[in-house]
Amino acid sequence: MFDYQMHSRILVWMETAAEELRRSHQRDLKIEEKKNAADLVTEMDKATETFFVQKIREHYPEHQIIGEEGINDDPVTDVSGTVWVIDPIDGTLNFVKQKKNFGIMLAIFEDGLPKAGYIYDVMNHDLYYGIVGVGVFRNHQILEPFKIQAISEALIVGNIGMFATNRGNSLALLTQSLGARAYGAAALEIISVLKGEAAVYYSCGLQPWDFAAGWALCEALGFKATTPDNQTLNLLKRCPVVFGNPLVHAEALQLLKETKEIGEIN
Ligand code: IPD
Ligand code: CA
Ligand code: CA
Ligand code: CA
Repeated sequence: MFDYQMHSRILVWMETAAEELRRSHQRDLKIEEKKNAADLVTEMDKATETFFVQKIREHYPEHQIIGEEGINDDPVTDVSGTVWVIDPIDGTLNFVKQKKNFGIMLAIFEDGLPKAGYIYDVMNHDLYYGIVGVGVFRNHQILEPFKIQAISEALIVGNIGMFATNRGNSLALLTQSLGARAYGAAALEIISVLKGEAAVYYSCGLQPWDFAAGWALCEALGFKATTPDNQTLNLLKRCPVVFGNPLVHAEALQLLKETKEIGEIN
């Protein structure tokens, strides 16, 4: 049975965190480079994750927490019990450079299985959540995705650099589709798949905080979320991921296996 008191708390925390992120645009932020100039972390990534970690510790001290910024210093080495997965700002580069097109992602897992996922498209005030066994909602209204039967009738989404370099044979997907869109935030790209605006989200390597919420939302919607070789995603490691409805997900896995001549790209 899903814990609706926990769900209500999460909704309040997401609203509070989103409001703080919007307000932070009014001041100069402390920005640091991680691996390179395109891999940034701001004081708001850390503050948002700290906010969630404090709330979770206060209400659910026995739960485990995985977060991108490592605020929780208790390392998670197994997925037993309840595990929270937090990406405090997905699309930090957009957050800094555009002040829009970023999200907050949060997921709840029980013994390694997805139970609920939350993605907040902060500047559009759109909160998507999915509860496994119940459904997926956008601002509390049931989400009804546009129907997609085949990749050839749809757009796909993913990282632009991946398509540009054919990483993970991604051009096999692109050439089959009507074209690719890249929003610079996995959160927004995953939402576009859930809504049926794009058939498939593909990435050759995502960290657990990048895919956990999307995995739970896919599960709640009856969509598929696996690796390209149809393996279950692993919350403890970086994985390549394919998200989509069952029809186009199967088609994507088949296309990714085939090495084909690359045709004209839209
Ligand atoms: C990144 C974004 C980006 C994806 C990267 C992620 P971050 O997350 O989702 O779209 O291509 O793989 O790391 O670092 O902004 O949370
Ligand atoms: Ca991310
Ligand atoms: Ca992040
Ligand atoms: Ca990051």
